[in-house]
Amino acid sequence: MIQKYRFGTPFYTGAVVQDIPCETGAPVFGTVEADENGFQYSITMGDKDAVYGLGEAMRGINKRGGVYESYNLDHRFTVEDVLSLYGAHNFLVVDGEQTFGLFFDFPGKLRFDVGFTNPDEILVSAPEANLDLYVISGDTPRDIVRTFRKAIGQSYIPPKWAMGFAQSRWGYEVPEDFRQVADQYRENGIPLDAIYMDIDYMDAYKDFTVDPAKFPDFPGFVQEMQARNVHLVPIIDAAVKIEDGYPVCDEGLEKGYFCTGKDGEPFQTAAWPGPTYLPDVLQPDVRTWFGNWYLSLTEQGIDGFWNDMNEPAVFYTKESMERFRSEMQEFLAKDFQDEGEQSRGDSQWFRVQWAAHKVSGPDNYTQFYHKIDGKPVLHDRVHNLYGAFMTRAAGEALERRYPDTRKLLFSRSSFIGMHRYGGVWTGDNSSIWPHILLNLQQLPGLNMCGFLYAGADLGGFGGDTSRDLLLRWLALGVFTPLMRNHAAKNTRMQECYQFDHPEDFAHVIGVRYRLLPYLYSELVQAALNGDLLFRPLAFDYPDDPIARETADQLMLGDGLMIAPVLTQNASGRMVYLPEPMLLVKFMPDGSLEQTRMDAGIHYISVALNEVPVFIRREHILPLAKPAMSVPELDEEHLELLGWVTREATLTLYRDDGYSRDYSNPAHYTVLRMGGDLS
Ligand code: GLC
Repeated sequence: MIQKYRFGTPFYTGAVVQDIPCETGAPVFGTVEADENGFQYSITMGDKDAVYGLGEAMRGINKRGGVYESYNLDHRFTVEDVLSLYGAHNFLVVDGEQTFGLFFDFPGKLRFDVGFTNPDEILVSAPEANLDLYVISGDTPRDIVRTFRKAIGQSYIPPKWAMGFAQSRWGYEVPEDFRQVADQYRENGIPLDAIYMDIDYMDAYKDFTVDPAKFPDFPGFVQEMQARNVHLVPIIDAAVKIEDGYPVCDEGLEKGYFCTGKDGEPFQTAAWPGPTYLPDVLQPDVRTWFGNWYLSLTEQGIDGFWNDMNEPAVFYTKESMERFRSEMQEFLAKDFQDEGEQSRGDSQWFRVQWAAHKVSGPDNYTQFYHKIDGKPVLHDRVHNLYGAFMTRAAGEALERRYPDTRKLLFSRSSFIGMHRYGGVWTGDNSSIWPHILLNLQQLPGLNMCGFLYAGADLGGFGGDTSRDLLLRWLALGVFTPLMRNHAAKNTRMQECYQFDHPEDFAHVIGVRYRLLPYLYSELVQAALNGDLLFRPLAFDYPDDPIARETADQLMLGDGLMIAPVLTQNASGRMVYLPEPMLLVKFMPDGSLEQTRMDAGIHYISVALNEVPVFIRREHILPLAKPAMSVPELDEEHLELLGWVTREATLTLYRDDGYSRDYSNPAHYTVLRMGGDLS
């Protein structure tokens, strides 16, 4: 059951699509204080209660003990105490003495204190009391998630090719760079379905342009790559370069489609192109207009996009630069001798550093306005919707133009509701071991909020990756719907063929293709049924105290459990099995090592070039033969694995990978595996 409580006059966020009447009276769980000073929700937790959800937020799967903020930011460093990342995912489930879900449908800054200040209390506060609170009850966390997901509508389903492996790097510039990546992958026998085009394909970082000097025949180039089963996926940034004669800028100005300053004039921000304007994507007309620009690229053969810098990232504004300049001038006018004598905490130099940091910080969000229902609204109040509405603009345009064909679309910034239009990647992580674990821990929370097509930059975005880090990360990535190796400019080259023994990479990525029919089928069915693809073990084994605390393994789909190796210099790891399972190891020679294991704690050895997966008893894992790309997959001849003592079945969803007729019965096959009575 889902109950809705309305406070004040909320903004439209588009998160909930189900028609739910408003309740009167106090919420069934918790207490609310709402007045002109703001909104506060509180509830006391039981000693053993766990708290799940909050989408891509930092820290573990159980969010208890932490404080989190929904206020989307472009991050330099993804560290444990970062309060908010790129997405605002205001849904959580409390599981324990009382089990219920909460969704705060609010587009401004929201703070979740989950037993941080008061170990037994959840406090959720917002600076204004204009929001809808949804309280969801159900028997289990999974039921609660399903009820919530029904309310927010069906998750985005990508085209099948977008579940193949992809290579990306900030720094590929010209066709030769892309050809070389494709050549090297093919020559080394490593599967590949897509190469991402970061900002350097554009003409002076102008959205929807392709640098004509670098790509004299872009449609021809797109076609050439597609003939090799490689899709090119360009990045689109939120901000529009200010330049006379650039049609997106000219048209936006002419129609009054950009966010404005206090004076009502288009407000100048800055991003990669230098000075920019922000399309006011909160307005439906602006969305239609901005979305239609994507079609200028699909007309050239492009069939996927990644939306970036859409928190929106603001490098500086005139005002923030001015503030910094005066701070700096004051500092430079000082005698450096004095500076040395000051105590560290009071140092003006640190103040300058802080001022520099603030130039691109959240203060910028209180300087410009959207137009909502004809009235100016300060960006800060609706901040978390920006990236979601940019992506919605693209998703709606693509669906209008290609009603029968799915396109790839995902975004860095997001809000619940955007999950209907595209997926997410988790932004700028680093080439460090803890970020494999973070990647794993973000998945169930994202799924709870509707984001099924999700993944992290495999190998790590910032910093230099190492061969072992990349291989271990890929062994998690083989299970994540978005499987993309991406790295920042000026880092070590990170393509799989850059490392010794590329055949190990070919093998690990090959496992992805063997699993693909299963993963695709489970993803589509999770989307259609409003279910989770990745679950905490606690969801499947609620009465098992060890399972409840296991935070480095996940349940995947109908019958799998994953437990990747997460640390360096480890030849294996400890794994907890809540029930007997079949361990399948994909060995580098292509063979499968299958071991029946009892419930309990085990050490399993896993070499760098092996991929382990666990199959629950009485469940089936179908496997395809390895393939070099999704179109080359043989989905007809599947090998069935399992430890079954009686007949087990699995409903496999299979389609052409593009169309949207999910209810077609011909797409469903029931796979059966007989018992061996052991
Ligand atoms: C942002 C994105 C990153 C991209 C870079 C350059 O940092 O998160 O993925 O490579 O911008 O476009």
